[in-house]
Amino acid sequence: MGAGIAETAASAGFEVVIRSRSEATAAATRDRLERSLAKQVDRGKRTAEDAAATMARVKATSDLADLWGCGIVIESVVEDLATKKHLFRELDRAVGAGAVLATNTSTLPVVELAMETARPESVCGIHFFNPAPVMTLVEIVRPLTASDATIEAARQFAVACGKQPVVVKDQAGFIVNHLLFPYLNNAVRLLEQGVASRDDIDAAMKGGCNFPIGPFALLDLVGLDTSVAILDALYEEFRDPHYAAVPLLRRLVAAGRLGRKTGQGFYDYRSE
Ligand SMILES: NC(=O)c1ccc[n+]([C@@H]2O[C@H](COP(=O)([O-])OP(=O)(O)OC[C@H]3O[C@@H](n4cnc5c(N)ncnc54)[C@H](O)[C@@H]3O)[C@@H](O)[C@H]2O)c1
Repeated sequence: MGAGIAETAASAGFEVVIRSRSEATAAATRDRLERSLAKQVDRGKRTAEDAAATMARVKATSDLADLWGCGIVIESVVEDLATKKHLFRELDRAVGAGAVLATNTSTLPVVELAMETARPESVCGIHFFNPAPVMTLVEIVRPLTASDATIEAARQFAVACGKQPVVVKDQAGFIVNHLLFPYLNNAVRLLEQGVASRDDIDAAMKGGCNFPIGPFALLDLVGLDTSVAILDALYEEFRDPHYAAVPLLRRLVAAGRLGRKTGQGFYDYRSE
């Protein structure tokens, strides 16, 4: 998600600093972005000059201090509250006082990240969808602590990125995942119960509901580990059994089959 958000912002003309934990992963993220732009040039979706100008706006680093001058910082690390809290404490020290600190979390309580900082009024959620350069929606998540100016800055940033922002309360799942994950979880339940095959369930939701991809293709795109983390956060908040991750999902995660990112999930991508 981090590379996709960087591509989106750089394409919109923003100067972007990608910060990863090591020089190697920072360089890998930059390479990934460069490959994505090259593919778009090959497909005639942007010119080589535009791709080069976009890349020139992107700097990759492992040093948090390089974020000092940024106006908006969007955290997009693994969906784990403890990891994100630790990072928000570091970001608060590393980033200039006027900056907005945002999280791309799919479900976690944004207020808990805000309270790790000395600037809770400047913390909000800016939730991009996957793949970020393609999907038009951005959920702007408003924790109790955020100021109007912070929410407006986040909203304006999303609009400048060519996205459609919606503002939503800081409640697990926000709008989209609150509605989407019971559906995805129930699809896994149907498969586990042997009600229909993977391919037939995916085909049914494409052909019957006009969805562009079926639930298993979508779970593989989101990542099964991220999906379990989202369901766990929803269950933690609402204690509704519809949000309790179906055992098959956890077994796939335990087997390292996380979806597209590991080459195998519900589908096998290793020959792609
Ligand atoms: N996958 C999706 O479809 C999707 C969609 C919208 C939002 N999100 C959210 O975006 C965030 C990232 O999701 P993802 O699917 O890219 O996750 P991922 O697990 O694929 O990638 C997370 C990345 O964060 C890195 N990381 C972990 N700890 C770090 C730290 N302390 N500092 C810097 N980097 C660190 C990991 O090395 C990894 O590269 C999560 O909060 C997730 O909920 C995901």
